[in-house]
Amino acid sequence: MTSAQTSAQISVTVNGATLHGTDPHVNLLDLLRDNGLTGCKEGCAEGECGACAVMVARPDTATDGATTRWTPVNACLLPAAALDGQEVVTAEGIGTAGDLHPVQHEMAVRGGSQCGYCTPGFICSMTAEYYRPEAEKPFDLHSLSGNLCRCTGYRPIRDAALALGTPDSPDPLAHRRETPAPCATRTDLTGGAAGASRFRRPESLEQACRILAENPSTIVVAGSTDHGVGVNLRGERPADIIAVDRVPEMRGILRTDTHLDIGAAQTLTEIEREIGGEVPLLGQLLPQFASRLIRNSATLGGNLGTGSPIGDAAPALLALDASLVLTSADGVREVALADYFTGYRQSVRRPGELITRVRIPLPLAPLTAFHKIAKRRFDDISSVAIAFALTVEDGTVTRARIGLGGVAATPLRALATENALIGAPWTAETVVAASDVLRAEGTPMSDHRASADYRSAMLATSLERFYEETGEVSR
Ligand SMILES: Cc1cc2nc3c(=O)[nH]c(=O)nc-3n(C[C@H](O)[C@H](O)[C@H](O)COP(=O)(O)OP(=O)(O)OC[C@H]3O[C@@H](n4cnc5c(N)ncnc54)[C@H](O)[C@@H]3O)c2cc1C
Ligand code: FES
Ligand code: FES
Repeated sequence: MTSAQTSAQISVTVNGATLHGTDPHVNLLDLLRDNGLTGCKEGCAEGECGACAVMVARPDTATDGATTRWTPVNACLLPAAALDGQEVVTAEGIGTAGDLHPVQHEMAVRGGSQCGYCTPGFICSMTAEYYRPEAEKPFDLHSLSGNLCRCTGYRPIRDAALALGTPDSPDPLAHRRETPAPCATRTDLTGGAAGASRFRRPESLEQACRILAENPSTIVVAGSTDHGVGVNLRGERPADIIAVDRVPEMRGILRTDTHLDIGAAQTLTEIEREIGGEVPLLGQLLPQFASRLIRNSATLGGNLGTGSPIGDAAPALLALDASLVLTSADGVREVALADYFTGYRQSVRRPGELITRVRIPLPLAPLTAFHKIAKRRFDDISSVAIAFALTVEDGTVTRARIGLGGVAATPLRALATENALIGAPWTAETVVAASDVLRAEGTPMSDHRASADYRSAMLATSLERFYEETGEVSR
């Protein structure tokens, strides 16, 4: 990937036609609208409203990529360059005024659209759910959790969704699922204002590490759900970007006798689908993480890469005793997540290092729970997040791991509470005493989400709730 190989444009197939982009910072939404595809709307430009939702043809991990999964994403957050060589379908490509798609028909006849601003986004999320390949599935209304409507109320939209049957076999979008999605292409685009920016998609981890070794200030982008907000709302225009979301060595979930090894570039939806049932802590966390649209792009590597003290993955992974595999041109090392964060958005990750894998040791603790304290039950940022993983043998706690988010400058383990629990009988008395210890963990602050006192109170009640939830099973 030398500068001689850099190109002046990328190509994206949209509704069967080819669109070209030249600016590494232009997002997919703007590329579509600049080319007359104005069904795709900008509501918030920060991933909150879904007015910009489109469908992307992604490899279906359930068939090892032999088939395609129509995957709805927020076009406002994705750099168009990240879609180089890929296939996108917008509301305009789903049906026409004279030949409505069943999803469009149901939305129309059931009054699911009034001003219509949100409608194309709803149509894309709903259509992707309609084509979800799992046979005999009921329509999952949570697939619409990232789409907001301020006119209709949600009942007619819900009615439309629930009225849908299953796709007819000659339907072109159903048919398209039967063949593989486009492979990730090598991309190297230079352009933008005064040709000053470069977007690269390496084909391998070795290439990615080499690019980062040559220029450690290169910005890494995976699902772009954080990066895209910075570009849209904070005007960030990094000179060098490298996309790692399709790096093969950072994808896939491997199982050994001792570990579950999750690719840092695996999307949260893929993780939820593949191991949500096997790792109940993740199975509980992931549906509470943002919306389906966000989870279809967001990755674990990106969540930990931000170093955010309110990221939801870290508390759960701390409770699971996870470690991170960090890779650079200098080699590979494994760091316990408990030793990873060093300060507010600071970590032991060195310049040029990528989080490549997340390792969860097996066997898993039998008693686990993830409590996300937020203003809304779904699609909200945590005020406090608490993850528990306990082993109770013959009525005594023999192992305890508790991960916390939102109560300090970094995610952290509640070490004093763990020590208060280990060796104690798993009884209401122990829990009341340990709750007082948990209340005092961390150094919570007051901000627009919650006061420091509230955060401490939530820690204390969370352990009591966990005890009640685990019920007789554990006693
Ligand atoms: C509407 C909305 C709702 C959200 N809700 C939640 C929520 O409920 N809970 C929550 O925790 N977060 C939430 N987020 C934040 C965000 O979605 C997550 O942090 C997500 O996991 C980021 O992953 P990504 O792949 O999109 O990261 P990107 O945006 O691609 O990258 C984020 C950062 O991580 C770095 N990075 C990415 N991958 C790697 C890697 N492999 N190695 C090293 N560094 C890397 C990048 O350089 C960048 O600094 C929300 C965001 C939005 C827009
Ligand atoms: S414009 Fe609101 S999510 Fe993209
Ligand atoms: S129909 Fe107006 S915002 Fe949904």
